[in-house]
Amino acid sequence: MDAPVITVRDLRKRLGAVDVLRGISLEVMPQEIFVIMGPSGTGKTVLLRHLIGLLTPDAGEIFLWDAPVHALRGDDLDAVRLRIGVVFQSAALFDSMTVADNVAFPLRRHRAESEVKIRESVATLLDLVGLTGAEEKMPAMLSGGMRKRVGIARALALSPDLVFYDEPTAGLDPPAAREVESLIWRLRSDLAVTSVVVTHDLWTAFGIGDRVAVLMDGTLLAIGTPRDIMADPRPQLQEFIHPPPVGGERGGEG
Ligand SMILES: Nc1ncnc2c1ncn2[C@@H]1O[C@H](COP(=O)(O)OP(=O)(O)OP(=O)(O)O)[C@@H](O)[C@H]1O
Ligand SMILES: [Mg+2]
Repeated sequence: MDAPVITVRDLRKRLGAVDVLRGISLEVMPQEIFVIMGPSGTGKTVLLRHLIGLLTPDAGEIFLWDAPVHALRGDDLDAVRLRIGVVFQSAALFDSMTVADNVAFPLRRHRAESEVKIRESVATLLDLVGLTGAEEKMPAMLSGGMRKRVGIARALALSPDLVFYDEPTAGLDPPAAREVESLIWRLRSDLAVTSVVVTHDLWTAFGIGDRVAVLMDGTLLAIGTPRDIMADPRPQLQEFIHPPPVGGERGGEG
């Protein structure tokens, strides 16, 4: 049995007056697409920021491979971070830079490579995300889905083993969202990466997750395959999975 890529044990975090994470434990296995799903404001991004070492837990442990991220600082943390790619919630592109310069940013920062080599790498990365030839475009010229894909290309620049996606389909129309989902799916097999996808979108979660963890009220209410989660009869879960129609069934009353 392979060792997990991510191990979280009893992670706790209070922010302001709120216990945002109240004892989170999970394991993510190699090449898995692991989805963290939950309503808005439940702490999905806070959890993700712990996993990538941007927040320090009040209690608990986080291992990426055998590295104790909860306890690492400085160069040791940077060494682990070089093995991960992150697609942040707001695509977070540099708007004054071309697509090519956005994608090349991590390469210029961390690799002493020639411009020719960097240009080759950028072209390969853009091919990978279906944006062949988009080098000279400016972010403002791109659709939301294309911006996401540039963010994904940039996250892949340093050939990470583990990729985190925070709300990769939020704000996209359904066709663009489905494209990003198939990209995430394809990258797992093309690059043999492990993927963690944070989303409040049920379609995304159930569409691409090998396993889905449902975060509610600071705890993981359930972890399982999409089928397991859909079959879980607990009302809290079913209400989230099958929200009542807008206006409710009594919409005609009053
Ligand atoms: N730095 C902070 N200081 C205080 N509270 C914070 C901080 N960051 C987040 N929070 C609070 O933690 C909770 C969880 O926020 P988080 O951004 O993780 O939610 P989320 O599940 O990612 O929501 P969304 O689906 O809208 O992205 C919220 O109540 C938020 O206000
Ligand atoms: Mg969030």
